[in-house]
This record gives sequence, structure tokens and C-alpha cells, in this order.
Amino acid sequence: MRQIRIFDTTMRDGEQSPGCSMNPGEKLQVAKQLEKLGVDVIEAGFPISSPEDFQAVQAIAKAVKNSVVCGLARCVEADVRRAYEAVKEAAYPRIHVFIATSDIHLAHKLRMTREEVLEKVREMVTLAASLVEDVEFSAEDASRSDYEYLAQVLSVAAECGAKTLNIPDTVGYCIPSEMEELVRYMRTHVKGAENVVFSVHCHDDLGMGVANTLAAVRAGADQVECTVNGIGERAGNAALEEIVMALRTRRELLGADTRINTKQLYRTSRLISTITGSSVAPNKAVVGANAFAHESGIHQHGVMMERATYEIMNSGDIGIPQNRMVLGKHSGRHAFVDRLTELGYALSDEEVGVAFEAFKKLADQKKSITDRDLEAMVGSQKGSFVPEYTLETFVVNSGSVISATANLKLKNREGEICQRVAYGAGPIDAAFKAIEKATKVKAQLDSYTIQSVTEGEDALGEVVVKLTSGGYHYVGRGLSTDIIEASIKSYLNGINKIIAGLRERQG
Ligand code: KIV
Ligand code: ZN
Repeated sequence: MRQIRIFDTTMRDGEQSPGCSMNPGEKLQVAKQLEKLGVDVIEAGFPISSPEDFQAVQAIAKAVKNSVVCGLARCVEADVRRAYEAVKEAAYPRIHVFIATSDIHLAHKLRMTREEVLEKVREMVTLAASLVEDVEFSAEDASRSDYEYLAQVLSVAAECGAKTLNIPDTVGYCIPSEMEELVRYMRTHVKGAENVVFSVHCHDDLGMGVANTLAAVRAGADQVECTVNGIGERAGNAALEEIVMALRTRRELLGADTRINTKQLYRTSRLISTITGSSVAPNKAVVGANAFAHESGIHQHGVMMERATYEIMNSGDIGIPQNRMVLGKHSGRHAFVDRLTELGYALSDEEVGVAFEAFKKLADQKKSITDRDLEAMVGSQKGSFVPEYTLETFVVNSGSVISATANLKLKNREGEICQRVAYGAGPIDAAFKAIEKATKVKAQLDSYTIQSVTEGEDALGEVVVKLTSGGYHYVGRGLSTDIIEASIKSYLNGINKIIAGLRERQG
């Protein structure tokens, strides 16, 4: 069975999607989860793009031990050197050099001739190969490039030391048969093809990112580039979880598999949506809320008789928690920790303390607590920091004949209580204004979303807010059976992140 290498670019290409930015601390958290998931290569960022990105790539390079850590660089000397500085301490460092090869990009973006591009590839791949052993070269917009010229560029990259040659469908233009033909052509026309790994990187503009990736695997690509939840530029990139499960489910047909621990797929998907604040569509393949739900009676009956009638994958293999009652008001710390361990969480004593307290509060509000509740509760706390403010109490009044008012009591880290009252256009607006008054932090509210974690009257509501402050983006998240409380917690979480970010930048 061929082992296809999974190259994850969630923190580079994925982060380029609107509203999906992550700070260095969040990126480190993601990198650790990707390592647990078993991805072969983590593209941690584009080090020259900003000091924060450099810092994130460097921290990931130091922390990750089992995956290759890669930094992106244009075919520019400063980029290549900056990428090297960022990844050099990794156990397995890689520099990923790219330049466009299509005539449309050469004429309008690079304003370079084909010969000039070839020369740049020669110089920059040679430089990168003098710094690290593992160099990847990407021909941006490869799928719209002249095949003969593309083969020439890739041959030069291989000759100069690139070990992986990536063929991106940058604008998601290909259909699967073309992608297959393109990869086959390069495998037979690139000089030195037998000594390199061919890779593809498919965008999803026509909804064919995953299909094109699988077609490329059939044609001999041994590395595939993808992102968790398919986030990325425009319509995004091929989704990691879909590629992995397609290969696993159809491995006999495709003769290929990956070394991914699929039981970590759901948790990885949740982590990315929690951090970026971008929720996964319910009908999203593999990790969407409805991916294993059966609505019609005929389907339900079929699945009850034999799961395989309407399910081609087992939700347990993806690590999706069951929506069955697992714990309640009288469950002790032991049962709580045991269940979390069964779900795959390894929390420190301190984290268990915080999580157990939250669990007890939730058990007071909710009759039975399911795996999905636990997962949402712990997921929202993992990697969190000590907040500047916590919510003590709130009273919110609203109605059609009164102005909405919120009266909030917050406690700061020193234990001082600050109580503020504010009016607003509605109860949530009033509560957010009261938080701003109490914390003296102002933020622009970019988006507000609410969804329920489970079904039923006492379901947990999850609110996600996206805030901007001082040019930086923040995601706040709050959970409660009461949607006003979940909203207050989400906004306060976002404001606490702004305060923490300010402190970090001021050193
Ligand atoms: O889409 C693309 O071409 C890219 C390259 C930098 C690999 O993201
Ligand atoms: Zn891309």
C-alpha cells in the first residue's frame, strides 16, 4: 500500500482565508494537535510576511518533534533566509520555495520572462538547498501553465536540490481527468522525476479540490497539500479530513492510505473552528454535524438494522463523540476524568480543576451531560489563558416597552469587583456595552454567531464573536444553557484576549 504524505497548510494557506487569522499561541496549539493527528508536514507559516508569523513558525519548529516543519518563501533571497531562520531548529526542517509559472502570472503579476523565472528558480532553490536538506518547490498556477515550460521549470528545481515538486491548481480550475493527466505528464517529462516526490495542492473554486487531489494520487502524486475543514484562499483548499477518509475508505481501490490517526480528525476540526471562529457547515463531509445523521424513516430503519446500509464510515473512527448521556449532577471527579481520558483528552491537574468546576456548574443547569457537551466544554478551555476579567453575575432586562438594560458584575485578577450598567439596542448589545464600560476596552464587533451544541430544551448554546481592536482580530467564545450568558461570556472572552494580546506585544 502506498503511504501518501499529508502536507497540512492550515496555518499558511488556511490562515489566508478572511477572518481565519491565528495568533502565535493559537498556532502552537494547532501544531501540537496536527502532530497528534499524524500529519507528515506542517506548513507553519510564511516567515517573511510578519514578525508574528516568524515567531509562530520558530516556536512550532522548536516544539514539534515528529512532523516536518515547513516555512514558505517566494523566490527571493530575503524570504529564503528568513524561512531558514524560522525553521532551522526543527527536528525536520523544510523550506518551501515558490514562484508562478503561468503566462498570465508572468505577464501581469511578476512582469518577468520565462527565462528570468527559470533563472530565479535555479538561484533560489540552490540557495535553499545549501541551507537545509529538505526543499520543496512549487510552481504557482501550474495547472494553467504551458506543460512543456512547467516540466522545464520543475526539472531545474529538481536539478538544484528540490526533493518535492508541488503542482498547484492555484485557482481551482482543473477537473479530475486534467489533474491526472497533468501529474502523469510531469512524472514522465521532468528530468530527475524518479528522485523526487510529486505533490499537489488543489484549491476548491469549482468544488473539485478533493476530487482533483485523489485524481493526482492515482497519477502518482505521493504528497497532497490540504487544510483542516478546507479553509483557505477564496473557496478554500482541499479538505484534509475528506482526503484522509476517502483514502482510508477506498484504499483497496486507490492502493493508497495515509498514516493519519483518524480518531483525531473530529477534534482537529473542532479546534480549528474554535480558534478561527469559522463554523463547519452542517452538511460538510466527514466532520459536519449532519455527516452521520439520518433523517428519513427509511434510512433510520436501515441503519438500525445494519449500519452499513447508509453509512460508509464509522463516526467512531473519526473521533466524533456520541450524543448519549454520559455524566450527570452526581458524577464525581473520577468519573469525569475517566470519561475525558476515554475521549482522548490528557489534561493537567490544573486544567482538570477548571474543567471540573465548569462541569459542576453545567450539571446544575442541564439534566444529563453528553460526550458532545464535554467535548465543547473542554475544547473551549484547552489552551486558554488566565483571564483578566471573569463574570460574577448579570441581570439583563429587555422587552417591547422598555429599553434593554444590562447590569454586570465582573471580577478582575486582583479580586476587585467592578459593576456597570448600560443601555443597548437589545439585551446583548446592552450587555456588550456594560462589558466595555467595566473593562475600558473598546472593540469592533465583526460577527456574532450562535448555535446549539446538542438538541433539546436544555441544550448548550455556543456563541462565537469576532472582534477587531488595534488592527488585530480576536475570536471570543462562550458556552451556556442560557444564550444571554453565553453571549456575555463570548464577548468577555474576546475582550480578555485583546488585553492579553496588548500585554504580550508590550512585553
Ligand atoms: O495556491 C498556491 O499556488 C499556493 C502556493 C504557494 C503553493 O498556495
Ligand atoms: Zn494555495
